[in-house]
Amino acid sequence: MEEKTCVKVVLIGVGGYGKFYLREMEKRTQDPSVILEGVCDVMPDVEKQNPFLLEHGIPVYREIEQFYEEHDADLAVISTPIPLHFEQVVKCLKHGSDVLIEKPLCSSVEEALEMAQIEKETGHFVAVGYQMNYSPVTRELKNRILNGEFGNPVVLKTIHGFKRGKAYYHRNNWAGKRTLHGHLVNDSPVNNSNAHQFQNMLFLLGDQMDHSATVTEVKAELYRTDPEVENFDTAALCVRTASGVPVWYYTTHNCLHEELGPVSEFHFEKAVIRLNPERIDHEHGNYQICWKDGRIEEAGAMPESGESFKLDEAITCAKKNQNGEKQHPVCTIQAALSHLETVRRLSELEICDIDRVMVEEEHINGVIYYHVKNIEKVFSDCFDQEKYPSQVMSGWK
Ligand SMILES: NC(=O)c1ccc[n+]([C@@H]2O[C@H](COP(=O)([O-])OP(=O)(O)OC[C@H]3O[C@@H](n4cnc5c(N)ncnc54)[C@H](O)[C@@H]3O)[C@@H](O)[C@H]2O)c1
Repeated sequence: MEEKTCVKVVLIGVGGYGKFYLREMEKRTQDPSVILEGVCDVMPDVEKQNPFLLEHGIPVYREIEQFYEEHDADLAVISTPIPLHFEQVVKCLKHGSDVLIEKPLCSSVEEALEMAQIEKETGHFVAVGYQMNYSPVTRELKNRILNGEFGNPVVLKTIHGFKRGKAYYHRNNWAGKRTLHGHLVNDSPVNNSNAHQFQNMLFLLGDQMDHSATVTEVKAELYRTDPEVENFDTAALCVRTASGVPVWYYTTHNCLHEELGPVSEFHFEKAVIRLNPERIDHEHGNYQICWKDGRIEEAGAMPESGESFKLDEAITCAKKNQNGEKQHPVCTIQAALSHLETVRRLSELEICDIDRVMVEEEHINGVIYYHVKNIEKVFSDCFDQEKYPSQVMSGWK
């Protein structure tokens, strides 16, 4: 068989986060081994927004089916609204493409399991776009965890928030929604904007490189700060893995500064892995391994910004697949299942409206933001004591 050397890519959804993939493909225009075969988006002015498409004669379609009538693709990269994920992934698999789907994988565990079945039947992979999982720094840490270097895990915890105001919620018709036209969305900081750090903890505890730990118990305090948001916008959760390890996550859209944390401590029998919040180059923090015997080891920069790794890996695996050498990117359907299960269980819990006396309204560049007074201190105390907000401060719950 003649070896195929070129991967044809279709990008589906390029108006929001998908712009990142467009930029990445633009960078690769000189690379003959990757071809942007087409773009698919319902926006009427995709070409106007992205003159590079016209310059390079890249066709734009409104419907996925229209694209596949005229082309084929080895890899489909999907960055569309959450409720569309399942149907679009299945469509692309059935048209013979491997798929890189933006996180979250889909809207429910049931959809994910059906997708896994179709993945098996078609022989094409589904990779999920949790970028931290793809980073060499994460993989190195995970290898060392799997090799038992740090001993058994004891407790993992992280604080991470992004300030999000009305403009974030008004950018589309699904932000902050629990359902849309009868479809599950469950959009929240846990499922979407601040999902990465939580996913990363579950991923680090997986028993194989491409698995995450199974979640067996989910407890949480969920809060709504912006009364117009349907779902929660602030959360403190503790999930327990099948081997009984507690994983705490504190997240919000209602912090004072643009970003809160990330601050992490991953406690193992022999060491604590800390994500040092000191920004070494104003962008990335650094992992430190603090051994129980007093040694401190630097273990690399926080991998969140290494977003291009996921696209590179999906392209490499798609190329290998074409040549009959089965390879799957590291963030598999299994690796995303526990996150989905957590989101499902959170959707069954009560959401408390935060008392307005605890909220400051801010106007920045014409956009309204809500800051929960003292949330930084509340989360920090919760993190230190492994507790929920109502256990460390009155007025919560
Ligand atoms: N990995 C990350 O860091 C990261 C960051 C942000 C968003 N995301 C994920 O990316 C996905 C998209 O989020 P977003 O914020 O860009 O959403 P968005 O709603 O702002 O943009 C979605 C894009 O999909 C297009 N679209 C809608 N319906 C379509 C259809 N039927 N066919 C083709 N295109 C269609 C829209 O026109 C738009 O261009 C979500 O799953 C989100 O969680 C990932």
